Amino acid sequence: MSDGLEDVVAAETVLSEVDGKKGVLIIRGRSLDELAGRTRFEDVTRLLWDGFFDDLPDDLTAPLAAARAEVFGEVAALDTGLLDRTPVEAMRALTARLADGDDLATALRLAAAPAVFTAAVVRAQAGEAPVRPDPSLGHSADILQMLTGRPPEKGHANALDTYLVTVSDHGLNASTFAARVIASTRAGLGSAVLGGISALKGPLHGGAPGPVIEMLDGIAHPANARAWLEAAIARGDRLMGFGHRVYRVRDPRADALKGAVRRLSEGSNTGRLAFAEAVEAAALAILREKKPDRPLDTNVEFYTALLLEALGLPPSAFTCVFAMGRVAGWIAHAREQVAGGRLIRPQSRYVGPWPKQAA
Ligand code: SDX
Repeated sequence: MSDGLEDVVAAETVLSEVDGKKGVLIIRGRSLDELAGRTRFEDVTRLLWDGFFDDLPDDLTAPLAAARAEVFGEVAALDTGLLDRTPVEAMRALTARLADGDDLATALRLAAAPAVFTAAVVRAQAGEAPVRPDPSLGHSADILQMLTGRPPEKGHANALDTYLVTVSDHGLNASTFAARVIASTRAGLGSAVLGGISALKGPLHGGAPGPVIEMLDGIAHPANARAWLEAAIARGDRLMGFGHRVYRVRDPRADALKGAVRRLSEGSNTGRLAFAEAVEAAALAILREKKPDRPLDTNVEFYTALLLEALGLPPSAFTCVFAMGRVAGWIAHAREQVAGGRLIRPQSRYVGPWPKQAA
């Protein structure tokens, strides 16, 4: 049995390739460098969905804007019962209200849902009324205006697009595998996306970026980094933002996102980036010393945390923002699974007690 299905090939896919030895990510034949910072979320979604919907338009900008406006109606269900939940639980509950299905209209609503619902939940939890989507804006710009109630600051929409594109798909990670298992039973795209959101929520997966900020705030000054990090490792804690099941070298997304942080902070708060780089260097040195048998490098979440913080997003909503990007990949994988896969049902080896032999 392979613990955690490590190194098990569970599907063939045309969607993305994660080369853990070389530190390379390819999405539908395009390298991450070709996509991050150069394409919008609408473009990478169309790239991922190409061939999986017969009626897929050439440009998803307007259909996705219409879908944001359509799902906004569900925000009225944001009752006080949801306000004391975490943002990802509240966003998941609102997403569950959408009708399930396998058609493009359902897919577009699901692609819009994490964006529209997260903005409404974050504002409601801050005591502010939700802001209606603006169909004249691109997806990332609209997310930011739904969150703040004003047009995005210079460079912010492009930085959010860089993030959403960078995390849009990543092979058979836990949440995408969960989505494929659910899709393989023909349960529908809505069910697959809800499974993806639920798996993503875990701190070993998409729940990691929020705790990266807690780690940085706990360290507070570069001089404290080594002592703080050594104490964490001594407690058996995992350092959030480091290590990966597949990458044995630096996650290529780390530098894609670090570049976006640098572009955003040009001429302003470069101190935060320099501090984070000092913490990263200390963490890598300590991991090499304490865990020499397992190459542990920076993963996507470390600079995700810095980028989303620079965009003014609350750490409690970082997992929701991850879902805003990954939802495009979950839907593509669900469609690919239905198009060519069978019901996913692996075997297990029973190690429990056996019935006593009949007397
Ligand atoms: C994502 O799969 C994907 O593609 C995911 C993702 C995506 O785009 O979908 O890339 C997104 O989830 C990135 C990872 C985000 N999570 C974190 O940053 C949380 C911290 N990282 C770890 O929990 C861990 O690295 C995992 C969960 C990401 C991967 O762990 P594995 O492959 O299951 O490895 P393991 O837990 O078996 O650890 C092996 C050894 C252990 O040493 P020993 O206990 O045997 O001595 O490495 C150590 C671990 O203790 N280790 C770490 C560590 N990660 C592994 N030690 C300290 N800090 C860490 N971060």
